[in-house]
Amino acid sequence: MTNSRPESAASPLMDTPQTLSDQPIGIFDSGIGGLTVVKEVMRQLPNERIVYLGDTARVPYGTKSDRTIKAFTLQSCLFLLEHDVKMIVIACNTASAVALDFIANMFKIPVIGVIVPGSSAAVGRSVKQRIGIIGTQTTVNSEAYPITIKKMNAETEVFSHACSLFVPLAEEGWLDHDVTQQISGEYLRHFAGTNIDTLVLGCTHYPMLSTTIQKSIDRIIGSPVGLIDSGVETAKIAKKILADKKLLSAKTPRGQHKFYVTDMPKNFVKVGERFLGSKMEDIETVNVEILGF
Ligand code: DGL
Repeated sequence: MTNSRPESAASPLMDTPQTLSDQPIGIFDSGIGGLTVVKEVMRQLPNERIVYLGDTARVPYGTKSDRTIKAFTLQSCLFLLEHDVKMIVIACNTASAVALDFIANMFKIPVIGVIVPGSSAAVGRSVKQRIGIIGTQTTVNSEAYPITIKKMNAETEVFSHACSLFVPLAEEGWLDHDVTQQISGEYLRHFAGTNIDTLVLGCTHYPMLSTTIQKSIDRIIGSPVGLIDSGVETAKIAKKILADKKLLSAKTPRGQHKFYVTDMPKNFVKVGERFLGSKMEDIETVNVEILGF
């Protein structure tokens, strides 16, 4: 484990390198949860190399202020840019909700978040145009999902609720535990009477609990509710943007993915391999001070 920045680091604001299609995709999250998005990017874009940064020293973001999240997200994106990424995916719903607009136009490479892909899929799939959103407290407070959905279809009714305890339950591995079922029922009761037919899993961790969430919401609504995994939708959009810009890699990466964390690498691997559904080999700890200005 080392803490240094690479000697060959490029300026974050430099011009597009010649071999951009061979450069990795940068994926950023507040911690471990973004690995659900990485899993999807690996599945849908198997030739791409990934450089991941999980800000495990400063997680959770979901209970922090907009100002703090913007600063942390900018620092993390600058770190990824120094690793010559051709695109940045902000996998964290909270960071996407609060900081994407602030950051997206600062760089020459595409920077995407998870809110627009998740919203667009929800609007496309909801027959009744009645959509539920679950996420962290900060994501729900930001109203990023309802605002984005209403821009896509002003007629849509959106109902939101924060489900903060889902994050530790997913990390604990209590995916179908009695306690998780009970908590899920408590949270999702908020949607009783809304008649939603689509529910956006607006947090990186929630796809891990999708079986439990599906059972609770179907029971509470009284009819099947479609779940939207923002990570799945984000990987689709990332693929489309790279294809449109002729930036898809033709090479097979095999073991070249790189994972950086700002703290607790052992826990990151232990929990993360469950989220990712595969082994993580190349992990490095970066001092959180290095991300600061
Ligand atoms: N990654 C965060 C999100 O998707 C959840 C964990 C946190 O609060 O930082 O909103």
